[in-house]
Amino acid sequence: MLVIIAGLLLTGGLFTAIVNTTAQADETASSADQVAQGRDLFLVSCSFCHGQNGEGVRSEDGNQIGPSLVGVGAAAVDFQVGTGRMPMVQPGAQVPSKPETFDDEETAALAAYVASLGPGPAIPDESDYSIEGLSDDEREAAIVRGGQIFLTNCTACHNFEGSGGAMPHGGYAPSLHETSARHIYEAMLTGPQNMPNFANGNLSPDEKRDVIAYLYSLRDMPSYGGFGLGGLGPVTEGLAAWLLGIGGLVGAAVWIAAHTTRTTRKKDAA
Ligand code: HEC
Ligand code: HEC
Repeated sequence: MLVIIAGLLLTGGLFTAIVNTTAQADETASSADQVAQGRDLFLVSCSFCHGQNGEGVRSEDGNQIGPSLVGVGAAAVDFQVGTGRMPMVQPGAQVPSKPETFDDEETAALAAYVASLGPGPAIPDESDYSIEGLSDDEREAAIVRGGQIFLTNCTACHNFEGSGGAMPHGGYAPSLHETSARHIYEAMLTGPQNMPNFANGNLSPDEKRDVIAYLYSLRDMPSYGGFGLGGLGPVTEGLAAWLLGIGGLVGAAVWIAAHTTRTTRKKDAA
């Protein structure tokens, strides 16, 4: 009996040990392949501005053509390439998002390559940013907390409804109405361009997810005040007040002037 049990344990143990090591070897091999694929893509599409080894490039007069990517992490690449900002096509006040150039596999390879240059934030797990798994109550609580976090940290640039706004030097903070949960999370994590970054020490992963829940809730919220006017705040509201309010008053004044007794009598006499 004992011999049989010992035999079974031994074969079982040996089997798991062997299977585990081969699986691990596979994983390292595939990530090494991915890094190599990423490096090839990088040399063709990115090294012109970011350098052969991602060290950054400066022109002769000292202007930066592309910053160093050492330590920006996979999350920054996933955000920049996933929203089509990179590869950048032309210099300007701001690099806009556009339809992406690379598919998911190529983006992952580029991210793996840049991550291999130096430690930085990794691409978040779906469980970090997805709000699908929340129950209705949890979701409501998350929206309330996320709203407070958003109003304190983000409205200054992105407006209270996330409609976006102007920034100094010709830049702008984009509207957040279409951005995917993953890219919202990564934007907070990496702080693209003029946006500050909100590392996990400042805004915990749970708080980031609350912000996402809040931004998603805005998308299906009706405009309780009547016309939303694009949710842009004082600018459109002031314009509407001017055009409709003052314009209406001017119209009324003209109408009154055209219908006083004097003007009517003159017309009668003619
Ligand atoms: C025409 C030049 C150019 C090309 C080509 C280009 N980049 Fe960039 N990249 C820039 C500039 C300039 C910035 C800085 C933008 C800013 O912060 O204002 C930048 C920023 C970035 C950042 C953000 C860095 C950070 O600090 O968060 C990442 C990541 C990035 N690039 C990756 C790539 C990848 C990957 C490619 C190739 C697919 C690429 N770039 C191609 C010019 C370029
Ligand atoms: C100082 C101003 C500023 C603050 C504060 C700020 N942002 Fe941003 N944000 C920006 C700018 C500028 C961009 C555009 C960067 C770019 O195009 O690379 C941006 C881009 C983004 C994007 C990418 C949108 C898209 O669809 O491409 C998201 C998402 C985002 N911000 C979310 C947030 C959240 C959430 C907060 C608060 C926790 C926040 N931002 C705070 C200025 C700001």
